[in-house]
Amino acid sequence: MASAPSETDFLVVGAGVAGLRAAIELASAGRVVVLAKREVTDSNTQWAQGGIAAALSDEDEIRFHLADTLSAGDGLCNVEAARILVEDAPARIEELIQWGTEFDREGTRLTFGREGAHSHNRILHAHGDSTGREILRALYAKARTLKNIEICEFEFSTDLLLENGRVCGVQMIRQDGLYRHLSACAVLLATGGMGQLYSNTTNPKVATGDGVAMAFRAGAAISDMEFVQFHPTALYLANAPRFLLSEALRGEGAYLRNSEMARFMPQYHHMAELAPRDVVARAIIHELEVSPANDPIVFLDLTHLDAHHIQKRFPRIYATCLQYNIDITAEVIPVRPAAHYAMGGVRTSLDGRATLPGLYAAGEAAATGVHGANRLASNSLLEGLVFGAIAARSMRDEIRTVSPAEEPPPPQSSEDNARNVEGTVREIQEVMWKDVGVVRSGAGLGNAIRQLEDMSSLVAGATTRRSHEAQNLLTSGLLVARSALAREESRGAHYRTDFPEHNDARFLKHSLCVGNSITFV
Ligand code: SIN
Repeated sequence: MASAPSETDFLVVGAGVAGLRAAIELASAGRVVVLAKREVTDSNTQWAQGGIAAALSDEDEIRFHLADTLSAGDGLCNVEAARILVEDAPARIEELIQWGTEFDREGTRLTFGREGAHSHNRILHAHGDSTGREILRALYAKARTLKNIEICEFEFSTDLLLENGRVCGVQMIRQDGLYRHLSACAVLLATGGMGQLYSNTTNPKVATGDGVAMAFRAGAAISDMEFVQFHPTALYLANAPRFLLSEALRGEGAYLRNSEMARFMPQYHHMAELAPRDVVARAIIHELEVSPANDPIVFLDLTHLDAHHIQKRFPRIYATCLQYNIDITAEVIPVRPAAHYAMGGVRTSLDGRATLPGLYAAGEAAATGVHGANRLASNSLLEGLVFGAIAARSMRDEIRTVSPAEEPPPPQSSEDNARNVEGTVREIQEVMWKDVGVVRSGAGLGNAIRQLEDMSSLVAGATTRRSHEAQNLLTSGLLVARSALAREESRGAHYRTDFPEHNDARFLKHSLCVGNSITFV
């Protein structure tokens, strides 16, 4: 396992789809170091099932993909960012195919699935329901052929290094607990999401909001943090992880049923089970609230669909549920919403620049405004590819001579001052789920902010990787809760019982957090 050098031309923090795509673009301009917090395969990209959207089928057009993206975003998309996303999609997909990605086909023709809020079948998928894994495999293989790229696993970046207001590298903590510095001409944050903020999430353990928290501490602007997407259908079983049950299942015709086995989505939206995610997640929460059952639950039902087709189309979901003794072709599956994706993040311009010189962001860690208040299904892998490549093209202009970073002084004490880290993480997750979840109110948000602020002293003085993660979760959680309190309206994934309508006059804007201030721009 390569350990990171002390200087490079370009530094990419994160090795998911955005980070690897950026590294490939940078490799012809200089030396690139990619830091993965754990193994390269430990990322949201690896877990992405449903697919990647692109207007490539004969019936589809780029303008339809754009219209669906804007409509899901509930008025708040940056239209130019969304246009770039959908227009660049075909070229980015073609390139992935050239690099060996095996999308599913019938004969030689690509097959396109359907997901919520899409007007056309446009979701490419691979090995049925392992699209992210296949894309990551191909990007990693491509990156490994480029001698300028060095991928370093188990290198956890804790903070950005600044020189005269310019980002010039990162501080890392190694597995042995020692801190090191790495300097670079430009730094890209491609650190992915923050689903671990919540006690129910589809995200892996690594998704702790590290990039957003690092950028915020360094003084960069953070945007749209109140918009957290809850996936409607995560497996809900005691002692099982909240495994994602892809929206593509509903795209193939699966129904949602309440505890009385009645199908309910047609009462909530004309697109029924294929309504936008925020609508479906809130409908489920409402069904749980009004359920006469003691232990309310809703179910995903595929039993009316062709069993052979389901096994073939969703082999990973089929096998995973079978491990928990559920044959999805014969039995209904207990599901609930779970935190899935952060629309907000490090604010960037359309070329990937953050508000600090030398700093860039792409993928889930970034907020270009491309998703507005609610991301359209299967636009996230696409975002990583498109904006990873764009950010890298801007970074190429930053090349100059860098000196190796000075090593940090050894910690005064090897003892971790952060107390009961696991307990604190659980408490953050519970507070966030209860009061900053699918349905919010001013009173609940105020309560959450007070509780999170009270926990600050528990994570101060972190000297281990896990306590740095706890600090990052607390920072990100406070950013989400404070932004959600400031947005006194409901829009997309942000729903407040005390302000249930849009308020375009005040809030058809993006929230912006810098230091202690929150504004809308
Ligand atoms: C899913 O397969 O339902 C998730 C895809 C996405 O988040 O876009």
